[in-house]
Amino acid sequence: MKTVAVIFGGRSAEHDVSIVTAISSIIKPLELSKQYHVEAVYVAKNGAWFWDNKLKDIKLFSSGAIEQFIARTQPASVQFDSGLTLSRGRGLTGRTQRKKIDIVFPSMHGTYGEDGALMGLLDMSGVPYVGCSLETAAIAMDKVLSKQVAAANNIPVSKFLSFTSREFAHKQSAVLERITNTLKYPLFIKPAHLGSSIGISRATTETELRNGLEVAARYDDKIIVEEAVQNLIEVTLPIIGNDELTPAYLEEPLVSAEDFFDFDTKYIRGGGKKTGGGKKGAQGYSTIPAHIPKDLYQKAEALGLSVYRALGCSGIARIDMLIDSKTKEVYFNEANPMPGSLYAHNWRQKGISTMELTLRLIQLAEARHRARQAFTTVFNTNFLKQF
Ligand SMILES: Nc1ncnc2c1ncn2[C@@H]1O[C@H](COP(=O)(O)OP(=O)(O)O)[C@@H](O)[C@H]1O
Ligand SMILES: [Mg+2]
Repeated sequence: MKTVAVIFGGRSAEHDVSIVTAISSIIKPLELSKQYHVEAVYVAKNGAWFWDNKLKDIKLFSSGAIEQFIARTQPASVQFDSGLTLSRGRGLTGRTQRKKIDIVFPSMHGTYGEDGALMGLLDMSGVPYVGCSLETAAIAMDKVLSKQVAAANNIPVSKFLSFTSREFAHKQSAVLERITNTLKYPLFIKPAHLGSSIGISRATTETELRNGLEVAARYDDKIIVEEAVQNLIEVTLPIIGNDELTPAYLEEPLVSAEDFFDFDTKYIRGGGKKTGGGKKGAQGYSTIPAHIPKDLYQKAEALGLSVYRALGCSGIARIDMLIDSKTKEVYFNEANPMPGSLYAHNWRQKGISTMELTLRLIQLAEARHRARQAFTTVFNTNFLKQF
């Protein structure tokens, strides 16, 4: 039986969400399938790695006992031995335990995990891993780069500008002038690399714009300012596949406009005020499938699939879109290479159980790995002979 390591936690704002994704949507269903050995690898907020079966229990985290666990447990280490081997010292006996990993299932959201950092490490180790590649993850987690790649592929995005926080600090009036000369209010101001609405503001006046820029500049070195999509309907499309793609249902999150920047609304209060008719999913209340006219549904689904291809996604991703319900224009907003809880609630409605989903994702990871290995990476040259 092959061994799958599920890596979760990490140094990001979405640390806690990643724990829930790992335990309920990946570890439990994979263990139930009895097709793989599953190892839980937890990256603590301080960056230390732990490997232990106790980490498969959500209670360890929800009760707060994880703090004691971290204080008492020796961190694990990872060896790059023509593959990936987990290793840990064992308390008083001092014996070292090792486990060779066949496949990695990353379950990290946000920085140092979903953004390509972990994928780079896994590429170096040569083990297959679930989800998007390093380059796709890095592009997807940058709101500017992902919009530029989409726009270069003729995918509509709302009109935007970007600049560095240093530019804003040193040439504030020039930056403001550039924005107000090019873009029309209302505007959204966002740090380029963060998720969960952290550091995002909406501005309808120059004062609000300046304030919004100051907030965003505190979080990130890169800022994006974009025109607001009017008459907004938000939809999101989870997709799996490498070459042949399977979309889940187009889903419409039901979060009212004034709640949009609230982390608690997204993850804790389950979508906050229930705006009617929705079902509670991983990210709060939503309608599945989105309740929009058929032609618009098809347009958004097609756009989501084009974005997945344009960004070079593989395995799984979730594509978020903004629709202007009056003009019927669909805009790409952002891509999530590792959607929270894998969007299991949506796949279930589509008839794909969470167990089936995780098993398929592992098969996709192995297929991509085999395809990559087929390429030549070593060349024999006479270069060294001259020395
Ligand atoms: N251009 C836009 N037009 C209208 N609403 C937007 C726009 N950009 C962002 N929003 C609103 O702000 C929310 C958060 O922005 P988003 O780009 O999705 O960042 P995050 O990474 O925090 O999810 C969106 O879900 C949407 O409600
Ligand atoms: Mg978003």
